[in-house]
Amino acid sequence: MTAFFEPARVNAGRLPGPEQNMEETAATAAGRRKVHVKSYGCQMNVYDADRMVDVLAPQGFSETERMEDADLVILNTCHIRERATEKVFSELGKVRLLKARRAAAGKTTTIAVAGCVAQAEGAEILRRQAAVDLVVGPQSYHRLSDLVARAAAAPGVVDTDFPTEDKFDHLAPPAPEAIRARGVTSFVTVQEGCDKFCSFCVVPYTRGAEVSRPLVKVIAEIERLAAAGVREVTLIGQNVNAYHGAGANGSLGPLLRQTARVPGIARVRYTTSHPRDMDEELIAAHAEEPALMPFLHLPVQSGSDRVLAAMNRRHSGADYIAVVERVRRARPDIALSSDFIVGFPGETEAEFGETLALVRAVRFASAYAFKYSPRAGTPAAEMADQVADDCKRDRLSRLQQLIEEQRLDFNRALVGRTVEVLFEKSGRHPGQIAGKSPYLQAVQVAGPTTLIGEVAKVAITGLGANSLFGQLAVG
Ligand code: 5AD
Ligand code: SF4
Repeated sequence: MTAFFEPARVNAGRLPGPEQNMEETAATAAGRRKVHVKSYGCQMNVYDADRMVDVLAPQGFSETERMEDADLVILNTCHIRERATEKVFSELGKVRLLKARRAAAGKTTTIAVAGCVAQAEGAEILRRQAAVDLVVGPQSYHRLSDLVARAAAAPGVVDTDFPTEDKFDHLAPPAPEAIRARGVTSFVTVQEGCDKFCSFCVVPYTRGAEVSRPLVKVIAEIERLAAAGVREVTLIGQNVNAYHGAGANGSLGPLLRQTARVPGIARVRYTTSHPRDMDEELIAAHAEEPALMPFLHLPVQSGSDRVLAAMNRRHSGADYIAVVERVRRARPDIALSSDFIVGFPGETEAEFGETLALVRAVRFASAYAFKYSPRAGTPAAEMADQVADDCKRDRLSRLQQLIEEQRLDFNRALVGRTVEVLFEKSGRHPGQIAGKSPYLQAVQVAGPTTLIGEVAKVAITGLGANSLFGQLAVG
């Protein structure tokens, strides 16, 4: 486990590079610098990317979509599976070339690695890719301006500390224009970290122990978002339904209800949940709160009780099905989604068959399946009888096929029905607008962009590969 933690602040002590010239200082003073954040992984990283931009805005940084224009490139990384980590190092190779090209044109580029790879690998990143100037873990984003300035003066700054202060108290609130530019839906972090220690998972090490934000602070953030035009918020956390912020009575339910009451907010969602934390108050909110959308992402990981125990999930397949039944009693039309891992150490063909059986029993609207990926420092990585990759690949494709059948069935069942859609943006073709159904399906219709930000009734007429097609319903 110790492999995950680096000394609090390490400065490799490198001297400022030749690119630290006077021009850069002048640009800084004029506040014309640009930042590009490239995010990988979960919704938390999407939220964090916006927070980093907000923190840097007072230093004169504005966001650019084009990495080649950026004076500061931040890779906001994911460490959950090995492939996610490798993607980051291959991207860093490209960013290094970009930095060299810009240097040849007399421009300075600061490269920062943030997110969970930063937290897990720390100074190792500087050893593997010398072009990196700054490594910053998710608990230090409120210090980003200072860290970027230090890295510009002396590259090789590492901050993967777990500070004692509440980082949310020190994060800059976004300006109303920034909120508007980001659209009518928004993520809001309400809880961070995880104490569950599933035996395959790095999250408890990279994001630390569970911390919940006080209810009043979350609601104040949502009020600011709503005042700037946000209509839907998704409350996020690695273990969001373990939320126990001050003022919330130990449940996510009261926070969801209060969120739904914020003027302007039409829709509320939350993710990601653990089956053990689906408490009565939360389930009751699904029955009683129309703004709480009928979609639940509830990872089960496996249908085999032996595998679930080895995963340290602390629930059985039957427990999961019982939770699903309770939720469905409260909200019969709820769409369910899940995560699965195939090829966990020791998983037999019969145990994999139990996963398929669970999927058939529950029926999901969508789900994600992953091959087990050993992560250094987690207990499962040390387990004997690791499953061969071709076996994992075979199970993954069989499970994905079943999930895809269920997804298509779920989508097909909506054709001919009328659902409410929150329109979020222009559609793929001129004259089209795109939004989401209550069940989180993408929906495209012919309609005016003035409907963006509005909820309207749509008659679903057909299915595309990744979205539904519909017509605005009259009346
Ligand atoms: N290998 C494969 N999948 C993993 N996940 C988490 N850790 C691993 C791992 N080591 C999956 C789980 C989790 C999702 C976010 O990623 O299914 O719910
Ligand atoms: Fe990882 Fe989720 Fe398990 Fe926490 S509950 S350890 S985040 S898989």
